[in-house]
Amino acid sequence: QLADSLFIINNFAREYFSHNLLESEEGQNVGLAYFEERGFTKETIQKFQLGYCSNERDTFARTALSKGYNLDYLQKTGLVAIRNEQPADNYRGRVIFPIHNQSGKVLGFGARILVKNDRAPKYINSPENEIYVKHKVLYGTYFARHSIDRLNECLLVEGYTDVISLHQAGIENVVASSGTSLTVDQLRLIKKYTNNLTILFDGDNAGVKAALRGLDMAVEEGLNVKLVLIPDKEDPDSYVQKIGAPAFRQFVADNKQDFVLFKLQTSMQEAGNDSTRKSQLVNEIAETISKIDKVEDFTRQQDYIRQCSQLLKIDEQGLIMLVNKFIR
Ligand code: CTP
Ligand code: MN
Ligand code: MN
Ligand code: MN
Ligand code: MN
Repeated sequence: QLADSLFIINNFAREYFSHNLLESEEGQNVGLAYFEERGFTKETIQKFQLGYCSNERDTFARTALSKGYNLDYLQKTGLVAIRNEQPADNYRGRVIFPIHNQSGKVLGFGARILVKNDRAPKYINSPENEIYVKHKVLYGTYFARHSIDRLNECLLVEGYTDVISLHQAGIENVVASSGTSLTVDQLRLIKKYTNNLTILFDGDNAGVKAALRGLDMAVEEGLNVKLVLIPDKEDPDSYVQKIGAPAFRQFVADNKQDFVLFKLQTSMQEAGNDSTRKSQLVNEIAETISKIDKVEDFTRQQDYIRQCSQLLKIDEQGLIMLVNKFIR
């Protein structure tokens, strides 16, 4: 009931912002110019139903209210807020990215400021409500699901624009975590389509750390996780726009590495000569390996044991015993 009303409002807003982007003078001069500057084609803009919210105080709010949409519900969606006791637009002067569920209905929005500054957040996202539950959503699932199914692989990126640029480059099996670390619900959503997850994260430290946090959980969920580090200062969007689609595909193919082995290597480098830290590490990796389902994936577990014992320069049998300690 309430959920239906929120979907209806979001759908109205999506159409409104999209029309505003493509047809209004301000939308064309500001919003469309922004997207075009970023290299998005008209086709891409229409496919992802991108939009623009005017920089006036309350253009959307007034239109929605005059059409009879309920103010409480408009506030629940985060589209409208009360400022100085009057309804006002929350996304004014921003470009709009609708966030769809698996069947294409709009759950909420991400709204990006045109020029970054220190006073306002770069993105404002819809608040959680009856239909938008952040930890269950991956941006782009609706557009990616057939391709993920067909290729039996899901690429994971950080941001809205990463998903969009990769689609434009013909890489469609891609979803975004929207800048947060992965949750179990999101991993299970991926598992509905494939067991093969490839994480494409910014080469910066924050990107790698966020990726690492998701690992044990992903392995536990039975996913086969690979990692591609995007060069420093770039993200998948900027990098694919910079080097072009064919070179980007090649880069991904050449740089795909196993996530468990990657984690082990980075942790070993960090540990240096610290022997306490090193034995901790052996324990951690044994625990990770123990989470790989032995029945379903026996060979994979054996492979890991062999490769990790080589990397750690420890006895294979010893590692097997340690791994077994973690299996109840
Ligand atoms: N994000 C957010 N709020 C912010 C910054 C980021 O919600 N203030 C989320 C967005 O979903 C964003 C993702 O985290 O897409 C990744 O952040 P970042 O890499 O900073 O943004 P980009 O996606 O690269 O966006 P852009 O290229 O437009 O700067
Ligand atoms: Mn939550
Ligand atoms: Mn980043
Ligand atoms: Mn970016
Ligand atoms: Mn980014």
